[in-house]
Amino acid sequence: MQKSFEITSSSGNYQVTIGKGLLAASLNKHASAVILIDDFLTGVLPADEKKIIYVTAVEGSKSLEEAAPIVIKLRELGAHRKTHLLAIGGGIIQDVSTFLASIYMRGIPWSYLPTTLLGMVDSCVGGKSSINVHGYKNLIGNFYPPSEVIIDLDFLRTLNAEQMIGGLFEAAKICYARSPSEFAAYLADAPSINMSPDQAERIILRSLRSKQWFIEIDEFDQKERLLLNFGHTFGHALEAATEFRISHGIAVGIGMIVAEEYAKQQTLLTPTGIKCIRQMTSHVETLLHKLPEVAKELRSLDIDLLSEKFDNDKKHLAEQYRIVVPKNDGILELVQVPRTAQGRANIKEAYRVALERVINIFH
Ligand SMILES: NC(=O)c1ccc[n+]([C@@H]2O[C@H](COP(=O)([O-])OP(=O)(O)OC[C@H]3O[C@@H](n4cnc5c(N)ncnc54)[C@H](O)[C@@H]3O)[C@@H](O)[C@H]2O)c1
Ligand SMILES: [Zn+2]
Repeated sequence: MQKSFEITSSSGNYQVTIGKGLLAASLNKHASAVILIDDFLTGVLPADEKKIIYVTAVEGSKSLEEAAPIVIKLRELGAHRKTHLLAIGGGIIQDVSTFLASIYMRGIPWSYLPTTLLGMVDSCVGGKSSINVHGYKNLIGNFYPPSEVIIDLDFLRTLNAEQMIGGLFEAAKICYARSPSEFAAYLADAPSINMSPDQAERIILRSLRSKQWFIEIDEFDQKERLLLNFGHTFGHALEAATEFRISHGIAVGIGMIVAEEYAKQQTLLTPTGIKCIRQMTSHVETLLHKLPEVAKELRSLDIDLLSEKFDNDKKHLAEQYRIVVPKNDGILELVQVPRTAQGRANIKEAYRVALERVINIFH
C-alpha cells in the first residue's frame, strides 16, 4: 500500500509518495517529460524512451562547470518553459536537477524519484541544491523543491552495504535531532542493511516526517534546520581529505562520533547525555563494522590534511568554527569554537580519538 503526505513550502507545497512499483506510473503521467537519470540506472527505463539525459553520479558531475553541457542538452531535446523534468537518481542527480530546473528558462517544473536510501530518507525533501565549484564542495546552491517526490522502494534492491549504511546514518541523525523518543522509535524499527521493504518504508517515513518538522519551521536554514548538520562539518572534511573515497553518508556517521568525542573532551555532557549520544554512536559503530574498507582508508589518513580541510569548511565564520554537538542531556546545539590555535588543537584531538575508535572496531 502506498503512503503519502504533503510538505509545506513557500515556493509551493509538494506531495511525497512512498510505495513499490511507482516508476512506471510516473513515466506514464509525465509522458513528454525530459528524464535526467543516473547512467547506472539506464536499464530501468523502457527502450522507447527518447528524451533522456544521462549523468554519471560522481561529485564532478554536480559542478558549475558540468551544468552548461546539460543546459545545452535540454535545449537540444526541445525543452521549453512548460517542459517537465523527471529526475531519477541519488543525491548527485537531485542536486544537479534542483539547480538546473531552477535556472532553465527561469525555472521549469520537476519531479524527483530518489534511488538511494540517503536520497529517500533525507535529501528528497527540503528543496536544497548544492553545487561544487572548481573542487570546492557544495559552494553554491539554492532552494527549488520539486512539484512531487516519488519514492519507489524497488530501487533499494540494487544498493550495496555502503549505500544502505550511509542512508541509515542520515536517517539516524534526523531522528536523533528531532527528539529522544523519535530516535528510540527509529532504533526500535531495527534498521539494518538487510531490511525488508516494509521496514525500510517505516524508517523512510519516520525520517522524512522528522525532517518535515525542521524544514517547515525553518525552510531557509536560519536556525532549527542547522541542527541537521550534525556530523556534517566533521564529515565533509573526511570526504574531502579522502578525495571522496569515504562517501557522504559514511562520513556523516563518523562525523557524529567526532562530535561525541569533542563534547566529552569539553565536558559538555551530563551522564544522561553521555548515555544518550552513546546509543547513537554504538549504532554507527555496529553498522560501520560491516565496512572494513573504511578502516583501511582511515589508517592512511593524514590528520593534518583532515584538520586543514576542516578549517576550510564554508560553514565556519571568520573568527569561529561552527559545529553541531550534543550538549547537556544529549540535545544537539550549534556551538561556536574560537578559531585559535587551542580551538584547532581541540578539534584535531577529537578527530584523532574518534578515528582511533573507528579503526579499533575492526580489531
Ligand atoms: N541537496 C541536498 O539536500 C543533499 C542532502 C544530502 C546529500 N546531498 C548530496 O548527495 C550526494 C550523495 O548522494 P547519494 O549518496 O544519495 O547518491 P549519489 O547520487 O552520490 O550516488 C551514489 C552511488 O549510488 C549509485 N546508485 C544510485 N541509485 C542506485 C541504485 N538504486 N542501486 C545501485 N546503485 C545506485 C550511483 O550510481 C552512485 O554510484 C552528495 O553529493 C551530497 O553532497 C545533497
Ligand atoms: Zn547529509
